[in-house]
Amino acid sequence: MSEQQLISLISQMTIEEKISQLLQLAGPFFEGSESQGEITGPMAAMGVSDDSVRNSGSVLGLTGAKEVIQVQEAHLKNNRLGIPLLFMADIVHGYKTIFPVPLAIGCSWDMDMAENTAAIAAKEASVAGVHVTFAPMVDLVRDPRWGRVMESTGEDPFLNSEFARAFVRGFQGTDLTDDHSRVAACVKHFAAYGAAEGGRDYNTVDMSERQMREYYLPAYRAALDEGCEMVMTAFNTVDGIPASGNRRLMRDLLRDEWGFDGVLISDWGAVKEMIPHGIAVNEAEAAYKAIQAGVDIEMMTLCYENHLKAWIENGQVNESLIDEAVLRILTLKHKLGLFDNPYRGASIELEEKLILSEAHRQAARDAAAKSSVLLKNDNVLPLKEEQKVALIGPFSQSGDILGPWSWLGSKEEAVQLYTGMVDLVGSTHIKTAQGCAIETMTEAQLAEALVTAQDADVIVLALGEHSDMSGEAGCRGDITLPKVQLELITALKSLNKPMVAVLFNGRPLDLHGVYDQVDALLEAWYPGTEGGAAIADLLYGRQNPTARLTMSFPYALGQVPVYYNHFNTGRPQGAPDAQIRYVSQYLDMPNEPLLPFGFGLSYTTFEYSEATLSSSTITMEQPLTIKVLVTNTGDRSGEELVQLYVRDLSGEVVRPVKELKAFSRILLEPGESQEVTFTLAEEQLRYHHSNLEFNSDSGDFIAFIGGNSRDVAELKFTLTK
Ligand code: BGC
Repeated sequence: MSEQQLISLISQMTIEEKISQLLQLAGPFFEGSESQGEITGPMAAMGVSDDSVRNSGSVLGLTGAKEVIQVQEAHLKNNRLGIPLLFMADIVHGYKTIFPVPLAIGCSWDMDMAENTAAIAAKEASVAGVHVTFAPMVDLVRDPRWGRVMESTGEDPFLNSEFARAFVRGFQGTDLTDDHSRVAACVKHFAAYGAAEGGRDYNTVDMSERQMREYYLPAYRAALDEGCEMVMTAFNTVDGIPASGNRRLMRDLLRDEWGFDGVLISDWGAVKEMIPHGIAVNEAEAAYKAIQAGVDIEMMTLCYENHLKAWIENGQVNESLIDEAVLRILTLKHKLGLFDNPYRGASIELEEKLILSEAHRQAARDAAAKSSVLLKNDNVLPLKEEQKVALIGPFSQSGDILGPWSWLGSKEEAVQLYTGMVDLVGSTHIKTAQGCAIETMTEAQLAEALVTAQDADVIVLALGEHSDMSGEAGCRGDITLPKVQLELITALKSLNKPMVAVLFNGRPLDLHGVYDQVDALLEAWYPGTEGGAAIADLLYGRQNPTARLTMSFPYALGQVPVYYNHFNTGRPQGAPDAQIRYVSQYLDMPNEPLLPFGFGLSYTTFEYSEATLSSSTITMEQPLTIKVLVTNTGDRSGEELVQLYVRDLSGEVVRPVKELKAFSRILLEPGESQEVTFTLAEEQLRYHHSNLEFNSDSGDFIAFIGGNSRDVAELKFTLTK
């Protein structure tokens, strides 16, 4: 269909039909849905009319070819003009083959892998009838109390932007009409949702526009530059105005400045939430503010549905705003090929063939191995097959390793750690006991664990948070492991045996009571469907850990937010002339996190030779190169992730103590050396000035090179303009 034909279709629509096109409802409202009629609680209270359902433009959370086909078929009969429904769903880190949570994928620093996980998710989802996924979530995160940090790739704007692009490429490919492999992506949550005060979900966000542009906005922008079709609003306020009613953010910035002409959807209920936020007295005012701000689709509330018509009739809202929104939605339907084939990729046959296929499971296993970060290893790992292992802890035999936003994945399909270990090395040397549940422990459980561990050569503890302890509305004010698990560690410590802990969780934790007690620590996050198999691969050295943290692990909760790209302050700790007291510090704990951004160990070791610069100056025309020789000094092959950071020593506004600019992964055999070369150009030194101009300043800089953001060599250079 041409744009002209779409416009002519719109001209045939009544005002009611147009407004309902902007409504998104959940599956149970629709004829043909298997849960039809199961509308209870708040959904029942919405009072949705049959007409609204018949005319609505999209549905969320309905998947499965059979059901999607049934619902679409019924809808085409019921809808006067036969306009197909768009099926949207949260396919965040896998459809049924569940990959590690995005924070874990972030720790892989591997864009090809990230893209591949999204491509597989898109393939499984598209044959199950999904057209749009509510992903990627690219909110920059600094506060591990926030449950949704597991949905993000971390605290760095550059890395988050690279991942945003990779996920969009994976979901959308180059051709959306490729209906058996691709879905449209919807980047979320615009904007700055990750900065919720106190790490409490839905809470206030307030920051300068400069800060937002510098750190929080780049990843959304990157997703759009990659062609992302949709944007979702955030629940939070931005400079005092909730995102879904924020005209400056949506119309001025997103649409006018960035030129985004795709579909903008509110988050679930976010339009109506303007009332409790306190910027709308009623639904009518909320509808007015959202449409003026540029929100096209209202998800799961009826402010548009019940009030836009009156606004048009009284002349306060121009009907052209509705027409534009409808056109954007119909254009997306057209791009997805729905006017030619409203069932698009939905295919029961292909679902059976593709979903959870061997190839997809293998990709999930590789992804989990590449995403788990080795945080400590005092010569305990890798395990040897002949070692007697006591596998203890609530995650030893648990399928709760998929993490939040894996609603279509099944815990029963997940490879548990015990199974993964036994499949790899047999059961002769592995004994297991639960020791405790996630938050409770009985004396009998503890006694059994102690007996099980008595004859072991090494104890492997499988610990963590259950998946409801993170994710949306999964915030915690205490980010240590639940107390009983710390007690379990202490009790087993009395046996005086080497101890390895494997953590299954959705956030950087306060590791007091863990890091200091165990000899080795592997952060597995929520590793997904093949989690147990992948962790077994790592524990037994079939895979050598390569992942690096993309979010700092705090020394203790009191430091939070703690992140690597912070400012220096006027009284930095450790400066040569610093006084003992009057410096920016805590009296009772270090300023530095326990484990910094970029940190992660391997089973081998690497040494860096002295780094060199091609020149001590960089100019507009002449970039400089930084070289360093890296040698594998251990006795097995391994990958090193060489990282380049920069600090601008004197900007027009204060610049962070370090900013990631580039990284390079190298694979080295034992004894092998390789020279790594980075090129640094003037563009990479640009930042937002006080007048919001994006530019660089002449002056002195430091380049840092190393295997994490803390242990680096420093080289000075000057930018002359
Ligand atoms: C979440 C979004 C999600 C939406 C639809 C909301 O509660 O914040 O991330 O896409 O629900 O499921």
